[in-house]
Amino acid sequence: MSDAAAMHERAERLLERELERFERDHPRSRELAGRASASLLAGVPMHWMVRWPGRYPVFAVDAHGARFTDVDGIEYADFCLGDTGAMTGHAPEPVVRAVAEQAARGITLMLPSEAALAVGEELTRRFGLPRWQFALTATDANRFVVRIARHVTGRPKVLVFNWCYHGTVDETFAALRDGRVVEREGNIGPPVPLDETTRMVEWNDVEALERELAHGDVACVLTEPALTNIGVVPAEPGFHEALRRATRETGTLLVIDETHTLCAGPGGFTRAHGLEPDILTVGKAIGSGIPSAAYGFSADVAARVEASIDRDESDVGGIGGTLAGNVLSLAAVQATLRHVLTDEAFARMIELGERFERGVQDAIDAHALPWHVTRLGCRVEYLFRAERPVTGSDAAAGADGLLDRLIHLYALNRGILLTPFHNMALMSPATTEADVDRHTEVFAEAAAELAG
Ligand SMILES: Cc1ncc(COP(=O)(O)O)c(C=O)c1O
Repeated sequence: MSDAAAMHERAERLLERELERFERDHPRSRELAGRASASLLAGVPMHWMVRWPGRYPVFAVDAHGARFTDVDGIEYADFCLGDTGAMTGHAPEPVVRAVAEQAARGITLMLPSEAALAVGEELTRRFGLPRWQFALTATDANRFVVRIARHVTGRPKVLVFNWCYHGTVDETFAALRDGRVVEREGNIGPPVPLDETTRMVEWNDVEALERELAHGDVACVLTEPALTNIGVVPAEPGFHEALRRATRETGTLLVIDETHTLCAGPGGFTRAHGLEPDILTVGKAIGSGIPSAAYGFSADVAARVEASIDRDESDVGGIGGTLAGNVLSLAAVQATLRHVLTDEAFARMIELGERFERGVQDAIDAHALPWHVTRLGCRVEYLFRAERPVTGSDAAAGADGLLDRLIHLYALNRGILLTPFHNMALMSPATTEADVDRHTEVFAEAAAELAG
């Protein structure tokens, strides 16, 4: 039997053992999951919660800082952190206070607030773009900028990279199959065939990018500065320069989605690496999880947008939302940026990310496992293949559903929460060295058992 086959056999046995342990340790969560199936579709408030690794999800009662407690009284070190929504740590005190004070003074009015100005000014300082608008989710921010890009360029399509994720934006739920743009597997009810709205190439493929942009029908390239939703796939040296050159030469707008890559520093990857997007979107963590997102424009694009939207039609353009820009969200963003996701906090979070990465690498080396670990600021990912991926397709081909589920459950059973969809860990300002070292210990234990 090959080493890989032997490891899979061990993984299957371990998974059975861990599933039993999970059931034994979580009777109250099981009870609630049973009750939930009577009133909630698939027994969960949001369908993707079926993807947690146990036979049912854990129900949380209390979350503070980098820890939470479940209904069975078990405490966890949380490295999932709401898949970035709580990268600030849970319920950070300055944000809780700002939100409580603001809620007592009004939540939404359809009027501007001083908080909006403070946030716009701070986002400009951080990301360098001079004009901002607000939304409630990063999905909405992306949806709105795709419309705006089509509007100001007069072009119909968006270009995205294979295996990207930008939220539930119709145009981005595509896949490349045999060189054709088709709907991504699992896409529910796509409104039109994807090749009508979308061009798609592999990440880091400059030649394909230039070829697709040469059609002259792409309004914008929408991309993260490194793919983060199929593991982390960094840009190869020179890729960002080529992307910026190709978009400029073809009159295509470049939209950088910093929703996850904010983990790279206070101004995201854009500031850390001197990128020059025309439009930037960011959401999730900027309000400590209070629904909030922002999108910013270069001076040139801002002028084109302002000149092209008629005042009397500004509420019917397909962009907005009654609650977008509400003062409660903006108070949360203001407090988060001022007191929680500060320059000093990022320096510490990134150090913890380095410590986490070292711990995982040591365990991989100790057992000579064909795995690798990648870090982007305070975000760390491990992938169960030896070679570092260059494209999203490489990363997808390296995914191992069984090992993913086993590692998640193994960690969960030992008081550690990772993201459910891949092997991602995030450090928050409240994460401690002891939390990181506990993960290292558990990961090393799992690696030893799997290595046999
Ligand atoms: C890069 C990126 N952009 C946008 C989104 C959408 O965020 P939301 O689901 O909060 O709208 C996600 C969600 O995971 C994301 O990873």
